[in-house]
Amino acid sequence: MCGIVGYSGVRRAAPVLLEGLEKLEYRGYDSAGIAVCDGGVIRIAKKKGRVKEIAQAADFNGSVGIGHTRWATHGKPSERNAHPHVYGKFAIVHNGIIENATELKEECLARGESFASETDSEVLVHLVAACYRGNFLQAVSEGLRRCQGSYAVAVLCEDFPDEIVCARGGSPLVVGVKEGETFIASDLAAIASERAEVYVAEEGEFVCVKAGSAVFYDRNLVVKQKERLQYDYNGDSPEKMGFRHFMQKEMSEIPSVLKKSKLILSNREFYKVLCQTKYIDIIACGTAYHSGLCAKYAFESLCRVKTEASIASEYRYCNPIVGKKSLVIAVSQSGETADTLAAAALAKERGAYLAAVTNVPYSSLTRLADYVLPTDAGFEVAVAATKSFNAQLALLYSLADLRSGGGGEWLKGADALAERVLEVSEGVRAWTPYFLNAKSVYFIGRGVDYCTALEGSLKLKEITYLPSEGYPAGELKHGTLALVDEGTPVVAIITQKALAEKTMNAVHETRARGARVFLVTSLPECAEHPEVTASVVIPACREIFSPVLSMIPLQKLAYYVSIARGIDPDKPRNLAKSVTVE
Ligand code: AGP
Repeated sequence: MCGIVGYSGVRRAAPVLLEGLEKLEYRGYDSAGIAVCDGGVIRIAKKKGRVKEIAQAADFNGSVGIGHTRWATHGKPSERNAHPHVYGKFAIVHNGIIENATELKEECLARGESFASETDSEVLVHLVAACYRGNFLQAVSEGLRRCQGSYAVAVLCEDFPDEIVCARGGSPLVVGVKEGETFIASDLAAIASERAEVYVAEEGEFVCVKAGSAVFYDRNLVVKQKERLQYDYNGDSPEKMGFRHFMQKEMSEIPSVLKKSKLILSNREFYKVLCQTKYIDIIACGTAYHSGLCAKYAFESLCRVKTEASIASEYRYCNPIVGKKSLVIAVSQSGETADTLAAAALAKERGAYLAAVTNVPYSSLTRLADYVLPTDAGFEVAVAATKSFNAQLALLYSLADLRSGGGGEWLKGADALAERVLEVSEGVRAWTPYFLNAKSVYFIGRGVDYCTALEGSLKLKEITYLPSEGYPAGELKHGTLALVDEGTPVVAIITQKALAEKTMNAVHETRARGARVFLVTSLPECAEHPEVTASVVIPACREIFSPVLSMIPLQKLAYYVSIARGIDPDKPRNLAKSVTVE
């Protein structure tokens, strides 16, 4: 969570920093701030709320600066808790958590220092100032050595007006260098359009940044040669491209994402592990967990390989039984989710082969994994994951297809089908009045449709704030049915012929209690049932892979209900896209 940026170059730093911060707002938008070194004096602008709130106040001249967009952990969203934090000659921005902040703060207070915020981060600037004896880099290194927790930091010092010192310890940091200019950021998204040479800071590294140069140091402050990141800048950038919201743009990209997906045969070593493993563990959070759950159905039914999908934050604490040399697949759009990283590290420690299914090829997860399986969905900015889910499914289903001897035929034409689903899904816009003020909403399905129900419900609650539950259709009558009453919206998903009648039974049961039933189905005969209030009929595909299509109408439903409720679907309250804290 939180995004940091920095710039040293020939332009005025403030507009460059603000532009970078706007592209990182998906990491948090509780407050924003910048610090610019202007003629040897550090100037600060910070405010509660979005980056645009500080634009006016940030009219500084200097060409060296740092910036921050915050997702609050310690201390509520407020101007005083906004970064940068300043003490003495220093200003700092921090992404991460300082776990021993209370103890360190007490030390500073005992020295007579006072604090302006309730944050854990402010203690960092005090530590750096206390360690300063004329050597900027040394002071940052000594200060950070006292800290437990995670960080990516960027620091300014008035004695070094053309320099930024940065460090990485558990939170991501990339550096872009081009003629006369250097950029730092939590994520490539903030600087991709600059077309600079990009370097990824590794754990424990420090970077001294000046206009047009970046010198990397290891944890002992010995200079390190770095290899530049190989990435294709294909014009993909986190811009809305005429769409009202990123979420809308990202849903529209699902067909092209599916078109790009292909079977991974190139990595022979991984192929061997995939084909030989007797057990697959999938670990992930949120939407990525749901794609893992969908994949479990595919692996078990097509390959007959025992597969478990686990929520990463629970996996860590259940003392998991990890088969030596079995396959663990960590799924993460960002590749930076703290719980997924920790669970993946645990699985690796216990002897499993670790494969990373991720959308960010330079992320922390890729550094940990034995095998990297990129989803290649392009930047995803909206907090609600959409196209990355479909891309994860395409990849995971391809693995199941591959292991069961398939040749990827199922993927052919998936893009055209998704295009068609996007069109018919526009129909869900007419459903919104029934959801607007619902007390609660239920999504039901059986088999793979149950996985879609879970993801449909997550999407709805995160961007509409409506209480909602995804439920196995057959399980309703064991308790949850008590919550259904007159007008309760129930969304049923039916894509498997053999289970259609069974799920329709649940439809009758909810209807009998006054529910309004909305249907997403590939079976037109179900849509015609008089008990169904409204339906979207999607084209059929291989049933076991149907979530890749049936999820699209539910993404759209969440989107339309969100805007009808006056919510910004790209930035729902209390959330951030990249969850880098436990
Ligand atoms: C999805 O809409 C969510 N915002 C969230 O559940 C997300 O999928 C989860 O935090 C995992 O993120 P990751 O894929 O980047 O690891």
